This record gives sequence, C-alpha cells and structure tokens, in this order.
Amino acid sequence: DPSVAPAELLRSPLLEAHDGVGPAEGLPLPRALYGAERPNSAGADPTCLDSRQPLATAIATTRLDPVPLASQADVADAMQRLSQGWAGWNHRPVDERAAVLRRAADALEVRLPEFCGLLVKEAHKTLGDAISEVREAVDFCRYYAQQAQARLQPQELPGPTGERNTLRLHGRGVFVCISPWNFPLAIFTGQVVAALVAGNAVAAKPAEQTPAVAARMVALLHEAGVPADALALLHGPGETTGAALVAHPATAGVCFTGSTAVARTINRALAAKDGPIVPLIAETGGLNAMVVDSTALPEQVVDAVVQSAFRSAGQRCSALRLLCLHEGVADGILAMLRGAMLELRLGDPADWATDVGPVIDDEAFQNLQTQIARLRREAALIGETPLPAGTAVPRLIAPVAFELSSVAELQQELFGPVLHVVRWSGDPAALVAQINALGYGLTFGLQTRIDSRAERLAAQARIGNVYVNRNMIGAVVGVQPFGGEGLSGTGPKAGGPHYLYRFCAEQCVTINT
Ligand code: SER
Repeated sequence: DPSVAPAELLRSPLLEAHDGVGPAEGLPLPRALYGAERPNSAGADPTCLDSRQPLATAIATTRLDPVPLASQADVADAMQRLSQGWAGWNHRPVDERAAVLRRAADALEVRLPEFCGLLVKEAHKTLGDAISEVREAVDFCRYYAQQAQARLQPQELPGPTGERNTLRLHGRGVFVCISPWNFPLAIFTGQVVAALVAGNAVAAKPAEQTPAVAARMVALLHEAGVPADALALLHGPGETTGAALVAHPATAGVCFTGSTAVARTINRALAAKDGPIVPLIAETGGLNAMVVDSTALPEQVVDAVVQSAFRSAGQRCSALRLLCLHEGVADGILAMLRGAMLELRLGDPADWATDVGPVIDDEAFQNLQTQIARLRREAALIGETPLPAGTAVPRLIAPVAFELSSVAELQQELFGPVLHVVRWSGDPAALVAQINALGYGLTFGLQTRIDSRAERLAAQARIGNVYVNRNMIGAVVGVQPFGGEGLSGTGPKAGGPHYLYRFCAEQCVTINT
C-alpha cells in the first residue's frame, strides 16, 4: 500500500528488533512497501549471500567492453530516433512499462556476479560495495515499477453532474539522464528506469570513467523489453556529449547527479534555450556534518564515523566530511577513532578483506594528494591509516583525519577518505546554524541520547537526510528517500514516493457528458 508512510513501516516489530545502527542487513523489511517485493539491498537474498565462488570467477573473467564515443552526429541521430520512438512507449499502459522494469530486476539479480565483476574492474568498487550496488539497482527497478502502478494511473476527480474530470500523467518526451561514476550502476539505473516507467524516452550519458557498466545495463534493459527507440546510450565527455544533449531542442527534461558546479552549468544552459521550459532534477554534493554531544555512545560514534567517512574510499555524496565533537568527549572519541583507523585495511578491491580500495582515477588521486598535503600544512593531523607496504595496487588514498578550528573553514567537498573534525561547546543550535550556513543540505548525522534534542536539531537542519545514532550512508530505496536541498540539489528524492511525478507531465481532461 503506497499510502503507508515509511515511518509507520519502520515501527514494524521486525525493525525494532534491529539495533538501529546501520542498514537492517539480513532482516526482511515489511512487505507492505513493495507489495510482494522488498528492498533487495536491505534484506537477505539467499542467491546473493553465498556467492563468493561465482563472484571470484566473474571478476577473474570480466572484460570491459570498449564503448564507442558518441560523435555530435550520433547525438543528433539518437535524439531524432528517441523523439520518434517516445510516443509509442508513452502510450503503452503503465502496467506494461512496470513489467519491463521487473523483468530487468529479475535479470539483474541472476547476473549479480557479472555486474559485480564490472563494478570491481571498472569503478574499483570493493566486493561489499559492488554487491550493495547491484542490489540497489534491483531495488530501483522494483520500487519504481510498484510506484508507477500505484501513482501514475488516471484519477477521476469530482465535478458537477454532467461532467467527467480525469487527471492523467504521461511522459514529458525525451529525458536526458546524466549519471556519475561513484554509483555507475545504481544511480545510472535509478535515473533511467524512473524516466522510462514514467513514459519518457531516455538519452543516457554515463560518466566518462564508467561506460562499460552502463552499456551492459542498457543492453539488459533492451533485452527486458525497452524498445530500441526508447533508450539510447551516448558515451562521451560532459563538455561535448552532455552539453549537446542538454542543448538539443527535443530534450524535455534533464536528470543529473554530480557536482554542484556542473548542475549550475546545466541549469544555465537550459535557461538559455529557446522553446519549451525544461525542468532539471539535480542531485549534487554535500559538506555533510555529524554532531556528537556529550551523551553519545562513543563506540557507536566511532563505528558510524568510520563507515560514513571512509567506506567506499569516501567517494559517496552522502559521506561524512565534518565531525563536530563536543569538547567534553572529543579527546576520548578521537583516541578511539585513531585506533579504529589503524585497523582499516587498504588494498585490492577484489579481496574480501579490503575495507578501502583505490580512488576512481589519476586525476582524483592527484587532487586528493594535493589537498591532503595542504591540510598537513594548515591543520592538525588526528590520525591516518597506514598504506600497506610495497602494495602494487595503484591510487590508494589512506584514510586521514584533520582538526580544523571552525566549521566555516570547511569550504570544499574533498571526494575521498578525508575527514575534518571540529570541537564545539555551548548551544548545539548555534552549531547547526553554522552547518546550515555552509549552504549544502544532503546528509546530517546526530549522535545523542537526548531524544528531544535530536528532534529539535533535525527540524532545524536544512538537510535532506538526517541520521540519528547510526551511520549516514547507504540510503535504502523506498525506506530512506535520498536527496538534498540548497547547494545539494533540487529534489525530489530518489527512491522516494514523489520522484516519478517530476518525470511526468499532467493533463486534466474535462468531458461534458
Ligand atoms: N545514496 C547513496 C548513499 O546513501 C549516496 O549516493 O550513500
């Protein structure tokens, strides 16, 4: 039942049995949310849990298919084909479009080892991250299928006798989906299937670093029943391929996940266009903070900080960047954090023992090295993970933490395993005001055992996802709708009940009977 609020679902006895820290791994979620289905990423899937051997084989045999770069002529051809194909797809009943997404989800589950192999090889994901990502992509397919059937059907509205009013939702036309390298399967798939199930044709431009994952997923979607003229992959640089897609006269909407700077560029390009007014759905970065007061449980704090700041080598837009420790507990927590950082294992992402793998590419590696060198000069080092001696794995950045003297000193999102720490005292509301003043609003962590304080500070924070007494990454589709405000994006939240509406146009038909 889609009208059941997630908060009510989360009061289920099954979830209350969970300790509340981190995603409810292994616990089945209430079926009400997905009908007969449930989020794959949050539940135990027996076909996935015992998959070490198929995964090892898949990784050993994975070959990254070369993906041709799209020329400007390819962009023009694809947009013409999609413009023509859109109407046929849009006029299919929503149940049929939803059925295609479910077939894609089924195929993706069966092909989990293959996609994990691609994610490890192309995006350098650790195995744990790769499995979570395939499951999240499956969740997006199933959740948007279910949401489309529940929410996009025609609605009869009341009217005077002799009149029939019907509100209908339909696709807008050709949607351009531009996705990032840090979730090259999950975010790519989430954008594309949301746009498709809402009745749009899709021109998908994946990140330049990760075209092979995207190409394999596009092929899977075509095999599942998406018509050739309703989905096209255009691989190329944002500055040329992305810009040509955004500027194309047939573009009816843009869905973008990436940096705030690029979101602004797209927004300006859309505003400068003649013709229809084209909406932008943008999900961007964050200067995400966690506030720890003197009542917090130190072990829980340290576990949440390590997960949030260093998992996925800090390459999540949700990742913790600024830890704000109450001065009364700061020294003790920092001593524990330093110890925990010594325990992290850096290395080969295909090794099950690895906690932190390489960063995405040489440019990211060099940039992080430069920023860490700057912090070593300007800030106090708190702790760091040792690099494994003589490692042959390239582009490893050791998790590192520095102390700053004020919140305002943090001006730039460093997209890697780099944590900033500040101490605070006095009124926590003043601290949250400083965090709001940074202008971003993606994720926020609170660690306190004072429930009324958690409620008050969460309400004050102009931030899309607030996590209390747990880590602040890994939003579960349909359970923690994900996305921010301010410099962090336009909304609506991915994996939430309002997402599909933004991909639709509405039509009210009034018939005098
Ligand atoms: N959705 C991811 C998370 O919650 C980030 O993109 O960590």
